[in-house]
Amino acid sequence: MNKDFISIHDITRYEFHELLDLATKIKENPDKYRKTLKGQVLAMVFEKPSLRTRMTFEVGMHELGGKGIYLSPAEIQIGTRETIEDVAHNLERWVDGIMIRTFSHDTVVRLARASSVPVINGLSDLSHPCQGMADFLTLREKKGGLAGVKLAYLGDGNNVCHSLMLAAAKAGTSMAVGTPKGFEPNPGITKLALEDGKETGFSLLITNDPKEAVRNADAVYTDVWASMGQESEKEARAKIFASFQVSPALMAQAKPDAIFLHCLPAHREEEVSASVFESPQSVVFDQAENRLHAQKAIMVTLMGNRKKNG
Ligand code: CP
Ligand code: NVA
Repeated sequence: MNKDFISIHDITRYEFHELLDLATKIKENPDKYRKTLKGQVLAMVFEKPSLRTRMTFEVGMHELGGKGIYLSPAEIQIGTRETIEDVAHNLERWVDGIMIRTFSHDTVVRLARASSVPVINGLSDLSHPCQGMADFLTLREKKGGLAGVKLAYLGDGNNVCHSLMLAAAKAGTSMAVGTPKGFEPNPGITKLALEDGKETGFSLLITNDPKEAVRNADAVYTDVWASMGQESEKEARAKIFASFQVSPALMAQAKPDAIFLHCLPAHREEEVSASVFESPQSVVFDQAENRLHAQKAIMVTLMGNRKKNG
């Protein structure tokens, strides 16, 4: 694997499956990995809020024998108080890995380029690859495989959607993305997904018709309509996205045994109706749990061979 984990596009499809297999092994036997990252430290840099990412990285490091140190948005102030490169050159002297949640994707790329220790993307405006890995682990557990499974994503063609597309391309999953006009996924990511998926059986439908996207799906996924940093667009988006709410009527277009997925946090009666969110089809907390196992696999793979401060 590369030094860093910045995008699912950057890993080969073999590495993609290896990470999922390792995540399953760690999930089944966490005690075997209690000392794998003994004495190692992960700096966890946050420029945006978090529940799941913060908890799963910190608990993950603890359960692997190391430690995570949380740096809040008020602390580093990347680019304002100090340059990205200077932050990297400080952190690399003290820690064995860096996780960053930030706005501009370029911040993650520059931090990784400047840093000698692994950098993990904990969400940028462009992608959320750790979420994508946890979601495909969940999909594999619930559907018994990934190739040929149909995943429908409804809502904003955002960071979460992009990572799902890139994961689907590696896995050979059929993906349908339904968004309002003007909110389609980034064309650059679409192109990468189509290239990555050429030999895996991946297919991609991008449509502005929510029903068409969901038809016959094995899994229906949605995310908030206004992401972190887009709060001022919340009301305008609520009107534009209204017909993309995952309602019982839309779920009825999917297969009868379809599961409902959401990266969380969720807004009931906006992107998903409360009845779907709370239905037996909803596996959203299994996804949240799998963040822990998937990220442990990523950290073990990137940091497992490093000696303390080596
Ligand atoms: N899904 C997710 O990344 O959650 P947080 O924003 O709470 O970390
Ligand atoms: N698209 C959302 C995901 C939150 C986990 C955001 O960026 O806010």
